[in-house]
Amino acid sequence: MERKCEIGLLGLGVMGSSLAKNMIRNGVKTALYSVSERERNLFSAQKGQYHMFPELSKFIMGLEKPRRVFMMITAGEPVDIILDQLLSLMEAGDIIMDGGNSYYKDTERRCRICRERNIHYMGIGVSGGEKGALKGPCIMAGGSSEAWNEVKDILETIAAKQDGMPCCGYIASGGAGHYVKMVHNGIEYALLELIAEAYQYLRVVKNTDIEEICRIFKKWNEGSLNSYLMEISIRVLEKKEKDGTFLIDHILDVAEQKGTGKWTVTESVERGVYTPSIYEAQAARIFSGKKEEREKGKRKLVFHSLAFPEVTPDELGKALLMACVIAYSQGFELISKTSADEKWGIDLSSLVAIWKNGCIIRSRLLNEIEKVEYSENRALILSEIFEQYGDLEGSLRKMTVSAVAHGLPVPGFTSSLNYYDYYRSERMPMNFIQALRDCFGSHTYMREDKEGCFHTDWEQ
Ligand code: 6PG
Repeated sequence: MERKCEIGLLGLGVMGSSLAKNMIRNGVKTALYSVSERERNLFSAQKGQYHMFPELSKFIMGLEKPRRVFMMITAGEPVDIILDQLLSLMEAGDIIMDGGNSYYKDTERRCRICRERNIHYMGIGVSGGEKGALKGPCIMAGGSSEAWNEVKDILETIAAKQDGMPCCGYIASGGAGHYVKMVHNGIEYALLELIAEAYQYLRVVKNTDIEEICRIFKKWNEGSLNSYLMEISIRVLEKKEKDGTFLIDHILDVAEQKGTGKWTVTESVERGVYTPSIYEAQAARIFSGKKEEREKGKRKLVFHSLAFPEVTPDELGKALLMACVIAYSQGFELISKTSADEKWGIDLSSLVAIWKNGCIIRSRLLNEIEKVEYSENRALILSEIFEQYGDLEGSLRKMTVSAVAHGLPVPGFTSSLNYYDYYRSERMPMNFIQALRDCFGSHTYMREDKEGCFHTDWEQ
C-alpha cells in the first residue's frame, strides 16, 4: 500500500500554493486540497511528489496519523467553516494548524473547541509574503505544545534559515503565535510609514529627484539601515513604465489595510501600552482615503512656513534609524506586556532570532536588538544597547522640526520623538489632570507627600 502523506496543505491560493511548493521541494510528502476547483486545477500543472485530493474527506484519509492539516485560507469566517468540517473528519490526537493572519482571540476560541475533542490546534504566524512562503518564510507557532513536537521537523525544514538556524519556533500556548505575528505586522506598518515619510521629506522639502533618492536609499541600505524593506524600497523606486517615467509617480497616494495594524493598536490601548508609531502608521492609511478633502484643504487652509534648515540625507538616515529602533521598541513592549498578562513567558531574544530572516521586518538592526537582555516590561529604549543609538537623537529632533516648519506631516517621526521624550519626562503634567478631574468630578487625587486618595473643595 502506498505510504500516506506526512502533512495536508489546505487552501491553494497565493500563500497556500507557495507553501505547498516549498514543502514538496523539501521532500515532504504532501497532501493537497482546496475547496476551489480552479485552484486545484491550477496547481495540478506542478511537477513533484504530492497528492491532490478532490474531496476533503479523502484528503483527510490520505494522511498518516496523527494527521497534520495546515490551513492556509482567508482569516475570519472561512476558518470556522473549514474547522467545523475538519472536526467531523478528524480523530483524537490529530493536529490542525492555521497559518493565516487570524485574530488571536479567534485562535484561542478554536483551541478551546478542539481541546474538547482532544484535537490539537495551533495558530501559526507565517511571514514573508508569497516569495517567503515559497523560498522560506518566518514561522511563529503557538498553541498546543504537544502538537509542536509532531510538526516541528516539517516546519523547520520549510522555514527560512539564518546562520544555519531555522527562523521558526514555538512562541507559547493559545493564540501566542498569531499574537506575535500581529505585532510583527504592527511594526511592519510603522517601518513602512517611516520609510515613506523619509521619501516624502526628500521629495517635497528637499526637492530631490527619484534617481537621487535611490542613491541615498542604497547608501543607507549598505549601513545600519540595511533591511528587507529598504531593499524593496529601492526596487520600487527604480521601477519604470514603458514610457520611461517612474511607476511610483503614477500610483495613487491612498493606502489600505487588512486589519492586523488596527488590531495591534486596539490591543495596545486595551493593554495600556504606548505604541504611537504603530497608531500613526495605521491612522495615516485611514486619512489617506480623504483624497478629495485633502485637495480641498490644500487650497483652503493657510500655511506659514518657518525658517528652519533642511536636514542632510545623512541626518535623515540617522533620524530614520532612531525611529526604526523606537518602532521595534514599541512592538516588544506590547508583546512583553501581553506575555506577562497571559502568562505566556515569551522569550523575546528567541523571537528576535526567529525574525532575523524570512519575515518582512528582518533587518540588520535585529542583530543588535538580539543582544538585549530583556526583563519584563522594560522598554528596549531603556536597555544598554540603546545607548549607541542615543547619539541619533539630535538628527531625529532636527528632522522632525524641519518637516513641521515646512508644513510636511511626518507622524511616524513625530510620534517616535514623542515616545523618546516621554521616556525622558521625569515630570508630566498629570498633577494638573488629577486636580482638574477632582475639581469637576470629585475623582480624588494622589499626592507626592502622603499615601491615599484626597479630595479638595476647589470652590472654597
Ligand atoms: C507578512 C505580511 C503579510 C501581509 C500583511 C499586509 O508578514 O508576510 O505582514 O502578512 O503582507 O498582512 O497587511 P496589510 O494589508 O494590512 O497592509
